[in-house]
Order: sequence, then structure tokens, then C-alpha cells
Amino acid sequence: MISFNVPPYVGTEEQYIHEAILAQKICGDGAFTRKCSKWMEERFSAKKVLLTTSGTAALDMALLMCDLKPGDEVILPSYTFSSTANCAVLAGAKLVFVDIRPDTMNIDEAKIEAAITERTKVIIVVHYAGVACEMDTIMRIARKHNLKVVEDAAQGVMAKYKSLYLGTIGDFGCYSFHETKNYSMGEGGAILINDEAYIEKAEILREKGTNRSKFFRGQVDKYTWVDFGDSYLPSELNAAYLWAQLEVADKINEDRLNSWEFYYNSLKPLADAGKIELPAVPNACVHNAHMFYIKCRNLKERTEFLSYMKAQGIFSVFHYIPLHSAPAGLKFGRFSGEDQNTTAESERIARLPMYYGMTEEEINRVICAVKTYFTNHGYRREI
Ligand SMILES: Cc1ncc(COP(=O)(O)O)c(C=O)c1O
Repeated sequence: MISFNVPPYVGTEEQYIHEAILAQKICGDGAFTRKCSKWMEERFSAKKVLLTTSGTAALDMALLMCDLKPGDEVILPSYTFSSTANCAVLAGAKLVFVDIRPDTMNIDEAKIEAAITERTKVIIVVHYAGVACEMDTIMRIARKHNLKVVEDAAQGVMAKYKSLYLGTIGDFGCYSFHETKNYSMGEGGAILINDEAYIEKAEILREKGTNRSKFFRGQVDKYTWVDFGDSYLPSELNAAYLWAQLEVADKINEDRLNSWEFYYNSLKPLADAGKIELPAVPNACVHNAHMFYIKCRNLKERTEFLSYMKAQGIFSVFHYIPLHSAPAGLKFGRFSGEDQNTTAESERIARLPMYYGMTEEEINRVICAVKTYFTNHGYRREI
């Protein structure tokens, strides 16, 4: 059986968790949390990085800091995980879904301006599969209309747009360290604060509305409740697990990129023959091999393909059901313009197994099964 995902594990996790226990500091913001934040601030040239309990929590924090009023609108793609939308709902906003580009499955930057109204306050972009959105254009539109930009870089840790790491380009960046992500702490995430003016606000929001972070730095002699807040800081035990992986972040990245390239090169002949489509990575993007997907011809072919893979003992999966057509999407939002690509392209995606440490033999088994299916069963596309 080949799993779809295996949580990343590098071997030093237990030692670091044990160290956290011995240090008698297992709540948040201890030595391991500080190591992780500092490492990300230095590596990604980020002004401030705060670990959070999840990518969802990082998004919630980002939107709560955007100071939205009832009736304000947030632009986002419909092809994404529910957390991208929940944060805007939590902040009291109406959702305006914008179509995606069929090549990268990212928000179509050319369709954003048509979705802007006088109520629009924020654009949330999602760097799907760790491949960046067209950020120069998006930032130009945002600055022109005085909008904040939140990067949902849950899948984009270590990936770049031009020379910039994802998460550091908009006003706020959000990472996920869920067990399905390239680097993990079980459940966890991080918020990147790229505008210094928001650092103190973020610390207070994350620490139950108190100025405890300032107190720990010796900047105030007692801490108190200063504003609205919640509890978004993860335990040191989780941070210790993450630290083990950040220490070898490049090794993990290279391993995944090698697997991705192996898939890509082996399946290229099928794509050249018009049987499948492969992921596109625009020139401006350095991706992180978060996932490897193929595109089938349509929903029927994808359903058959996934059952075929399962019968071969290989777990391949699909996602997302577009949010705008889901019950909560209908309740909280509307689609701007015509859904030309979101639904049609979402029905074609099949994700192949991808995880750190996947062996050549395992990848070969997946490749053989894909080739066999599309040679013997798949529909022949007109080319
Ligand atoms: C695009 C996207 N946004 C947000 C999230 C939420 O992250 P988490 O599971 O850490 O809350 C995920 C993770 O599944 C994601 O893929």
C-alpha cells in the first residue's frame, strides 16, 4: 500500500521534545518556539514571524488585524481550503470569489479588478501547491485600491516569487505546519507580519489580549489585558518537533523536489501524447514540491482513475470542492463574474502520493500505475 501522505519525520524530533520536557517549559514561547521564529525571520527575511496553533489560526489572526467592518468585502479564490474563507467570515466580511487560472490553479490576477467594489478591503491569495500567484500584478492592484493583501502560503513554505519567499510579499503571510505539509509540528502554523506597525497588535492578539510578550522582554513591569485577543500560541512540544525539521529544511526541500522532478520527467511522454496534463510552474516561481498532481480529461475519467489507483494499492486523492458552490459559500459569499475555470479545472485534478523520504521504488510504482491506466483505460484526447 502506498499512502498519499506520510508526516515528515527526520529523527531528531524525540530528542528535542525531551529537551523541552527537561527544560520544564512545555507551554508556548519557550526556547524552541524562539528558535523556529528566528530561523524563519532570518531565512525568509521576514520582519516578524510568530508561531501559531495552525495555518487556520494564522489566517484568523491576519484577517482580525485587517480591522474589517460589517459589510466589508474580501476577495479570494473559490478553489481553496475552507480556512481561507473562514477567517474572512470570522472577521465579519462578505466573501467575493474570483476565478482561477487554469495553468497554476491560482487566483486569476486579470479578474481581480472587476471584483473590487467600494466595500473591498482585503485580497487573500492562495499559493496553490507552493507555486506563487502573480504577485507583482496583485500588489499593484492592491496598492492602487488601498487594499490589504494576505498570502495564504499554507502550502508555500520555502517557495519563492522572483527573489522573495512566499509569505513575505503581502501585508501578512500565513504558513501551515499540519502533518500534510512540507514541514510539520502535528498541528501548527505561523504568521508573518511584514508591516512593522502590526507587530505589537499581533503579539497581543495571539496572547489572549495581553501584553505578556512585552513583559517577557522586560519592556513593561507587569502585564495586563490591553485589547481583544485569543490564544494562538502552540506548545513547546510542537515547536520542538518543528525545529527538528527546520534544521534540515533544505534536505527536505531537495528530497521533495527530486521526487517531483522524477514524476514530471517520467509522466511527460503521457502529457506530450495528450493523455494528461502536468502542473505548470511559471518562470517567476521557485516551487517547493508541495504536491504533484495530474489533470485528467474530466470528472468521469478522474473518478475512474482514482478507483483504479486504489485497486493497485495506491492512495491518490482529489480536492477541493469549490467553496462558492458549497453550502457555506452560498451563505457567506458570491462569485464575481463567470466561473470559467474554477469548477471545470477542480474536477480534473488528481493528486499523486508525495511525502518526504518517498523511495524511488514507491514513485516508480505510482508512475507505472498512472502509465498503465492512461495507456489502457484513459480517454484519448483530441490533439
Ligand atoms: C490553502 C490552505 N489554507 C489553509 C490551510 C489550513 O492550515 P491548517 O490545517 O494548518 O489549519 C491549509 C491546510 O490544509 C491549506 O492547504
